[in-house]
Amino acid sequence: MKNLFVRKSLAQLHREIEGENRLHRVLGPVQLTSLGIGCVIGAGIFVVTGQAAHDKAGPAIMLSFVMAGLACVFSALCYAEFASMVPVAGSAYTYAYATLGELAAWIIGWDLLLEYTIASSAVAHGWSQYFQEFIGVFLPRIPAVIGRTPFDYDPGLGRFIATGSAVDLPAVLVTAMLTVVLVRGVRESASFNTAMVVVKLAVVLIVIGLGAFYVNPANWRPFAPFGFSGISLFGRTILGQTGAGGEPLGMLAGSAIIFFAYIGFDSVSTHAEEAKNPSRDVPIGILASLALCTVLYIAVAAVLTGMVPYNEINIDAPVADAFRRVGLPWAHFVISIGAVVGITSVLLVLMLSQPRVMLAMARDGLVSSRFFGAVHPRFRTPWLSQILMGCFVSVLAGVLPLRILAELVNIGTLLAFFVVCAAVLVLRRTHPEARRSFRVPWVPLVPVLGMASSLLLMISLPKENWWRLLIWLLIGLVIYFWYGRRHSELRLAGQSPTLPGENAGA
Ligand code: ALA
Repeated sequence: MKNLFVRKSLAQLHREIEGENRLHRVLGPVQLTSLGIGCVIGAGIFVVTGQAAHDKAGPAIMLSFVMAGLACVFSALCYAEFASMVPVAGSAYTYAYATLGELAAWIIGWDLLLEYTIASSAVAHGWSQYFQEFIGVFLPRIPAVIGRTPFDYDPGLGRFIATGSAVDLPAVLVTAMLTVVLVRGVRESASFNTAMVVVKLAVVLIVIGLGAFYVNPANWRPFAPFGFSGISLFGRTILGQTGAGGEPLGMLAGSAIIFFAYIGFDSVSTHAEEAKNPSRDVPIGILASLALCTVLYIAVAAVLTGMVPYNEINIDAPVADAFRRVGLPWAHFVISIGAVVGITSVLLVLMLSQPRVMLAMARDGLVSSRFFGAVHPRFRTPWLSQILMGCFVSVLAGVLPLRILAELVNIGTLLAFFVVCAAVLVLRRTHPEARRSFRVPWVPLVPVLGMASSLLLMISLPKENWWRLLIWLLIGLVIYFWYGRRHSELRLAGQSPTLPGENAGA
């Protein structure tokens, strides 16, 4: 039993990244921040904001962004401390291995797999909606049968409905194309990403600057048509209104959904091993990208709900549609292109991150190292794992609706945040002397607030997500006991569990 809690020492983590099979150190602070922004601003602000304002929060979606942003700041500080301490690929998975033990690490690794794979599929849908919006300006629209997923959830009816379509083909194709780009290498991908981030930021600034002239403050009244709360516990609303399908409504329920827009800053930590000066630059990348995105999100939410009455917001391409409604077709066109480019960069970074978590798990023997640990001899990328991920994302993006995917991603990510905050507390006790070039301020307050806010958002999600997460984790546990536990490098090496204070490492 105690082997389930075997932990990796920090010294061991540092030794591992000195070997042959390591990744190239090519990323500086600007590229890391840009990877963060690249992964954060995308389908969340361009699509999910519209859905959340329309279905859950109304103009109070602005406050939803503040709440979700707060939850992220606490966790971001904890991620930054870890990344400065253990700058290896693997992010929360590796942090959990060093603090909470192998079983917890497996659960988080498996959970991150869900986060990155499902998030990529959800984002591919957002891309598809704006791509169709954009080409619809000068070409006939793509036939609906290949332009949408076969079914969707209707919040008004509270159930799934058939859409009459067969597959979201643009979502499938963009995933396949990006897989090819990613197999070729992270340096090329990072430069490609920086260019896309510049375009995306320009478009977001146009939305805010131009949209401000078309805001009608009357649209902000009522400010919170569904109330300020929206907390449910396993499907029972304990505070706030309930929707037709039994889901919670209100400002907090809106936060739990638009939290999706913030996902991605944590992916900066998965690139720690490719950073030139990880202990300084990774915390900069995480915190700078989060701060910038929070400010932009609140401004875009204010403009969108000020331009269009919340119950008339288009849920497929809300931002572009708001400019079409006020009679600015050129802005509609520019925003559609910007959204396509911006969402592409999110997809790129999300798809870049997942194989790196798998690489870390493969090095530990918890998944097949021959497959997931294979680094391409020329491109130095985890190419087999990248291609496998591309296949999964394509299939899921082709058939599952964005709403369902986004909620599932949120609960998985919030769980990872919770564990990272807890792990900071554990590591401060067990390894107080280990070198940290970035330290979370006001410990234990900040990690505890991070855990509490993540939990609050998790319980504000519709109950189905808890079941989906539980089923996913159960499948993961079966694989762990069937494969991971028997092939674990640490266990095979016969290492006994690291005791608190031992191998303080670094
Ligand atoms: N935060 C990412 C997005 O909004 C997932 O697209």
